[in-house]
Amino acid sequence: MATRTSQSTALVTVVVDDGVAQLSLNRYEALNALSRELIERLDQALSDLDERDDVHVVVLSSAGKHFCAGADIEDMSKLDFNSATADGYVGCSKQLGSFSKPVIVAIEGMALGGGCEMVEMCDIVIASEDAIFSHPEITLNAMPGAGGTQRLSRAVGKHVAMDMLLSARPLKAHEAKEAGLVSRIVEPGQAISKAMEVARSMATRPLALLRRTKASVMNSLPSLEPGLESEAKCFRECFNEITFQEALSEFIQKQRAKRQ
Ligand code: CAA
Repeated sequence: MATRTSQSTALVTVVVDDGVAQLSLNRYEALNALSRELIERLDQALSDLDERDDVHVVVLSSAGKHFCAGADIEDMSKLDFNSATADGYVGCSKQLGSFSKPVIVAIEGMALGGGCEMVEMCDIVIASEDAIFSHPEITLNAMPGAGGTQRLSRAVGKHVAMDMLLSARPLKAHEAKEAGLVSRIVEPGQAISKAMEVARSMATRPLALLRRTKASVMNSLPSLEPGLESEAKCFRECFNEITFQEALSEFIQKQRAKRQ
């Protein structure tokens, strides 16, 4: 298997070692909020990793205390319906959900909104005991746009998904595991090391077999495409709503006031 290679940019870091790529969001000062630039870097890194024969498994994690605070609110405040539609904006990765190799996600702290959507796109979820999973979009008078309404309900069933999406109820790690969103729980601070341990063992298997196994599981589920398209359209319609724009401005004003 290949020797260790690494590449790092300001926003996303990639280290490849022994068949495992450790891909990390690196915008911890903003709780790894998904700025458009971060999403672009992440998607570029995922496209590259999907092509590489020396990468069998990806471990996705984040720098800092929290996995991800969701779509970047400042970025969203600069969009309107037309620009969001023209750009195909969904506030999250567009590559992760269709990545062909196994992705293990390691969660410490919060996975919110688009951060929780990324969890739902991954294959194995290893969470710290104090991790929190939440879809707070409704508190911004919005809804998920990158598959949250589709993949969450597959993972946890209709009733828990409705509770999370319509009332913004957060799930603690144990609740998320019970509901089916989390595969394994570890002690705080241990999520990345456990994910790497699982990934290293998995990476000893042939890449074609890992791909086929993942594809077969995905094919066991009804196609997501129509649901994803309709969700993205509904999400972008939120940009036409004054209540969404007001909620975004309110968050930004509050953050500015906190800084003073
Ligand atoms: N976008 C942009 N910046 C964000 C952010 C976000 N989603 N979340 C946090 N940040 C930034 C803050 O502005 C702050 O920056 P400064 O230090 O420069 O002021 C920094 O991260 C730290 O945040 P806080 O000071 O707020 O930290 P806290 O510990 O007091 O609170 C929090 C943490 C509860 C997560 C709070 O930051 C928060 O509520 N963030 C927004 C969460 C949210 O609503 N996410 C969903 C976005 S919508 C989405 O993802 C999908 C969609 O399709 C609509």
